[in-house]
Amino acid sequence: MDYAEKISTHYAHGNLLAAIKAGLEVQGVKAENASVEDLGPVDEFHIGGRVASAHFLNQLEIKPSQTILDVGCGLGGAARFLAKTYGAKVVGVDLTAEYVETGQALCEWVGLSDRIELHHESVLSLPFEAVRFDGAFMMHVGMNIQDKQTLTAEVSRVLKPGARFGIYDIMKTNDEELIYPVPWSNTSETSWLARPEDYQAVLKANGFANVKENNRRAFAMEFFKKMKAAGDAAEGPPPLGLHVLMKQSSAEKIPNMVANLAANRISPIEMIAVKGD
Ligand SMILES: C[S@@+](CC[C@H](N)C(=O)[O-])C[C@H]1O[C@@H](n2cnc3c(N)ncnc32)[C@H](O)[C@@H]1O
Repeated sequence: MDYAEKISTHYAHGNLLAAIKAGLEVQGVKAENASVEDLGPVDEFHIGGRVASAHFLNQLEIKPSQTILDVGCGLGGAARFLAKTYGAKVVGVDLTAEYVETGQALCEWVGLSDRIELHHESVLSLPFEAVRFDGAFMMHVGMNIQDKQTLTAEVSRVLKPGARFGIYDIMKTNDEELIYPVPWSNTSETSWLARPEDYQAVLKANGFANVKENNRRAFAMEFFKKMKAAGDAAEGPPPLGLHVLMKQSSAEKIPNMVANLAANRISPIEMIAVKGD
């Protein structure tokens, strides 16, 4: 298997759209009546879900006239939230075909297809002309990308001068080996975590300045604590949640991620950078 196949095989579900539809129906919501809010628990595949997206995207100074690039968009949950909240257009790219196809159907369901395009492409070779986008963001994607130089150079190439690039990735915060499987990889083979200083260096080398960094570790620990308490109280997970994406493997991947966080091996970190002239 080549790199692209390994990543998309890891994330592919097999019947994701039907699983989301079934979860909505348990809550009494028909697919065609679903809202961006209804989808939030399942379509934001990063620590903190919609709450984390709101905190993160709010720092990008997005305006309704803008077109924003979603780097590794997954199902496009953050793209839909952004389009609805800020009125901007969003173009997303992702390597997992099933996520892109499911995300396109979800955009149809909530009536946002006219403002969101999702493409099955690699962020290492963006199919866009230079200086096209007014901003870009990437949430929980860099962990699957070894070549962060090419990734950052590609994002820089397609951004206008003065545009903001927001990153919310899980980064490495000590040298201990991780416990696997984790949500982004079953083994170390497709996990390429980097330290915050490595991200900072590659951003600066590719024309980004004023990089603001915010470690969201305390927020993440609280998020998982609340998730566990809610699951214990309800004696099981809700109809829609990240367990729908990861299926049975979430029972191992989520506790492993919490253990890695607790041991300070990893932390979700926001970086907001501005592209220079
Ligand atoms: C943990 S998910 C996050 C998805 C989305 N950003 C979100 O927060 O909901 C990681 C995503 O990165 C995508 N990905 C990994 N490597 C990629 C690459 N080289 N190009 C495009 N997408 C990639 C995967 O297909 C997957 O959808």
